[in-house]
Amino acid sequence: MIVGILNQKGGTGKTTISVNLARGLQQDDDTVVVVDSDPQGSARDWGAAGNGNIVTVIGLDRPTLDKDIRAVTNNYDWTLIDGAPQLSEMAIATIKCSDIVLIPVQPSPYDIWATEDLVDVIKARQSITDGFPKAAFIISRQIKNTTLSKEIREALKEYDMPVFNSGTFQRVIYAKTATSGSTVIDSEPNGEAAIEIKKIVQEIKEFIA
Ligand SMILES: Nc1ncnc2c1ncn2[C@@H]1O[C@H](COP(=O)(O)OP(=O)(O)OP(=O)(O)O)[C@@H](O)[C@H]1O
Ligand SMILES: [Mg+2]
Repeated sequence: MIVGILNQKGGTGKTTISVNLARGLQQDDDTVVVVDSDPQGSARDWGAAGNGNIVTVIGLDRPTLDKDIRAVTNNYDWTLIDGAPQLSEMAIATIKCSDIVLIPVQPSPYDIWATEDLVDVIKARQSITDGFPKAAFIISRQIKNTTLSKEIREALKEYDMPVFNSGTFQRVIYAKTATSGSTVIDSEPNGEAAIEIKKIVQEIKEFIA
């Protein structure tokens, strides 16, 4: 199963969700690889900071990604593609080869407006491929005790694309664990962040079922 994590806007949580989700999927004894399609190489840097001990990260940051990826996907139950902050040929290649595309959005109107082009590209692809890849929004960096997330859910309805119930909240542990090449699951297996990542894992499995 190939999951593309895409949003051309920078800093929406693509890499954070990619690496933590990868770790979450491994917990069910599945094999997982992260494909870093971002020339910035954040996921590769994360992998290097953890000495490659948690999840294998490989870099494929050329527009031939949809073909190159075939060399790796057969060896893993899950391939997660960490997207670059551009709506580039690589994003198009990711949409072509993914079974699922997740679009992390922060609870801000700017983030919502910025996804419009991506949604258009995904829908254009779905219209010629019998609905593939399946795509959904996932709200990242939600702030506790605000009504913003609810408002964002409401606003996202206009795109006519599912929104995951699960998502991430703004928590220092995400940034801290990133620095050391770790994950929230390794750092605090029973913590709130680990629990929210496990909920995303569950929802992905339901989404493809
Ligand atoms: N839930 C969260 N709580 C706290 N900090 C977060 C959370 N998610 C992401 N961050 C932090 O926000 C910043 C941007 O996140 P991240 O790098 O995952 O986004 P991105 O979409 O991959 O960015 P880019 O577009 O540059 O690739 C990072 O410093 C990360 O540690
Ligand atoms: Mg990133």
